[in-house]
Amino acid sequence: MSILSWDDFEDDAPKQAPQANKSAPVEPEKKTDSQVVSDAQPSSQNLAAAQSVGTHSNRTTDSTDSLVRASESLKNLDVAPGLEELEMGAQRVLVDDKAMINCRADLNQLVPFKYEWAWQKYLDGCANHWMPQEINMTHDIALWKSENGLTEDERIIVKRSLGFFSTADSLVANNLVLAIYRLITNPECRQYILRQAFEEAIHTHAYQYCIESLGMDEGEIFNMYREIPSVARKASWGLKYTQSLSDPTFKTGTPEDDQRLLRNLIAFYCVLEGIFFYCGFTQILSMGRRNKMSGVAEQFQYILRDESMHLNFGIDMINQIKIENPHLWSAEFQEEVIQMILEGTMLEIEYARDTMPRGVLGMNAAMMEEYLKFICNRRLSQLGLPEQFAGVNNPFQWMSEMMDLRKEKNFFETRVTDYQTGGALSW
Ligand SMILES: [Fe+2]
Ligand SMILES: [Fe+2]
Repeated sequence: MSILSWDDFEDDAPKQAPQANKSAPVEPEKKTDSQVVSDAQPSSQNLAAAQSVGTHSNRTTDSTDSLVRASESLKNLDVAPGLEELEMGAQRVLVDDKAMINCRADLNQLVPFKYEWAWQKYLDGCANHWMPQEINMTHDIALWKSENGLTEDERIIVKRSLGFFSTADSLVANNLVLAIYRLITNPECRQYILRQAFEEAIHTHAYQYCIESLGMDEGEIFNMYREIPSVARKASWGLKYTQSLSDPTFKTGTPEDDQRLLRNLIAFYCVLEGIFFYCGFTQILSMGRRNKMSGVAEQFQYILRDESMHLNFGIDMINQIKIENPHLWSAEFQEEVIQMILEGTMLEIEYARDTMPRGVLGMNAAMMEEYLKFICNRRLSQLGLPEQFAGVNNPFQWMSEMMDLRKEKNFFETRVTDYQTGGALSW
């Protein structure tokens, strides 16, 4: 199936009466207003052509025939075939019918809720809505363009961060909608996943907005995930787990396939969103704390808040799947998960060393390594697994405060109430 564009929608009309268009060419001097517009705007040609068909004498006959066919078809509409897939379509869904995976209850019935935490996160996500254009980038542009505004090490950090995140958020979004969504068989979780997918789109938008504002070389930034080893290794580690599920015929239902889904959830929620984002976020937010690139840092701060909710949702989902399917969480599988989290931590440490060859912004690669080991322990214990690094501390306590939605309410308290994106539309 091809991707739809507005041109495809506009294509629909002329397709209904191609012969009429051929047999009755319109003289240039008899152009209607709409045709004049079509000449001025080549992208509207199809629409104007469709409108010109309306002047043909067959139009009335065709419309009547179409109406008769539509009404005949509705008379014979049988609701059963449409609901055939829903094995319990004839019954109302009960809470106990619901399950995270392999559920056969009707997925179009959002309530009654079984997983209140999923619905609450959906509400929280909506309450934290923001858009990249709301953030002022003027100071960043001046600083980025001034010759001595940033050190070379600081510039590398900005470029690498935008390079990794601009494509990483797309990887996450694609994995959500193309792999995870259809395999999670619970409507309240799907509701959150839809919200999350939109947030990922906003994140990609935010990076693009930064890249464009700063006048960066877009080709260089968007290709880092294929060209810069420390960025590429993280991206390809994540892609390995998507590929396992992106086959449209893949289904859960056997212990092996259910574990494949779990591996994907752990790779994306716990490693990509839970570890791979942390070095870059800490670097950019530290820059913002020093009044440098404060617009980029503000964008990253809102993204980080969203991400910490994505991570918590993922952990809740994985733990719920474990509770409902304890046979999947075997000792062998637990070993595998520990290894995945360790691999992710090591890749992020590599990234820290690559992006901080020297001390910068009051931090260095060794401090980041300790922080990442601390994060690694945290992810393991959130999944009920043993910590792997004894005696590590969090050298960046301020990061926890940045992530905590309850600590800094000002932005959302003032914005949410007067949020009105509809004002930007013109009809
Ligand atoms: Fe994101
Ligand atoms: Fe995310």
